Amino acid sequence: MNSSPKPLLLDILKKLNATQFVSGEDLAEMFQISRANISLTLQQAKTFGVDIQRIHGKGYRLATSIDWLDASQIQSLRQETGSVTVLPVIDSTNTWMLQHPDDFEHGSCLLAECQTQGRGRRGRQWTSSIGGSLTFSLRWDFPFGIARLSGLSLATGVAIARALHRVGLTSAQLKWPNDILIHNKKLAGMLIETQGDALGPIQTIIGIGINVHLTAEQREEIAQSVTDLSEHFTHPPSRNAILAILLDELHSVLKVFTEKGFAAFQSEWESLHAWQNQPVSIMQNTTTILQGIVTGVNADGALVLRTPHGEEIVHAGDVSLRRAS
Ligand code: BTN
Repeated sequence: MNSSPKPLLLDILKKLNATQFVSGEDLAEMFQISRANISLTLQQAKTFGVDIQRIHGKGYRLATSIDWLDASQIQSLRQETGSVTVLPVIDSTNTWMLQHPDDFEHGSCLLAECQTQGRGRRGRQWTSSIGGSLTFSLRWDFPFGIARLSGLSLATGVAIARALHRVGLTSAQLKWPNDILIHNKKLAGMLIETQGDALGPIQTIIGIGINVHLTAEQREEIAQSVTDLSEHFTHPPSRNAILAILLDELHSVLKVFTEKGFAAFQSEWESLHAWQNQPVSIMQNTTTILQGIVTGVNADGALVLRTPHGEEIVHAGDVSLRRAS
């Protein structure tokens, strides 16, 4: 999804719910625009993953209710401090934070209801929809340089897994280096980018995306086996509640990481690894470059494999991990 929504789309959607119809006339009155303009704007909702029911003579209703992101609710539910900013629809929270470094201080969080150009790892796209995703970036500054950041994405994965377990998703696991899986399907991912002096101090932008409700179209677009929160809950916890818990876990993990590095999370990470002790292939693009059994990760977050030729250490970078058939 690369196009931007019409300016009033989110504001109009926020006036709708899944129980009562709101007439086009009332909406037109509220926003001081024509009924035709309301209709035209709401036609765009589907592109952003929102299903609208329209009945002639009655008006508009959401097919499924949306729990809107709310900074003050998030703040009231969390223990840690740090600013939380919610923006309606932007290109990407990571891009936005990188482009506005002075607007975000250490520990602050930027959320978007929807991203139009969400970025994944290895140049991939990260799709999201209005109300169907949790997409945010957290700025975290470290007093040291890039060399001591190895294992940061794995430690971040531990924070995400802890938060998911706390909301009841005890089957959430990690896949090296930084995927979050449920029953081997991807639920969430992270993209960590840096700014500042590589020798330190360094600022990181920790971008996290969690699938809350994927539409059928999104599932088709994504060339991976994926899952979302709605598959695992009859009534998923609100995105605001999940984010409050996740921010607390991230703050706690990142403070320890700053002091002790990834070594402090090594054994917890291994216990969460979906493919621990399993045969895997290390791929570079589509070529298998190594095969072995995962024995764990080292104190830098590199993957440790047992192979017929002895122990091999694999660093994250351009490689990816597949389960060996
Ligand atoms: C991946 O697994 O490929 C990483 C996905 C990271 C997506 C998040 S969503 C919030 C932040 N903004 C982005 O553009 N990307 C990250």
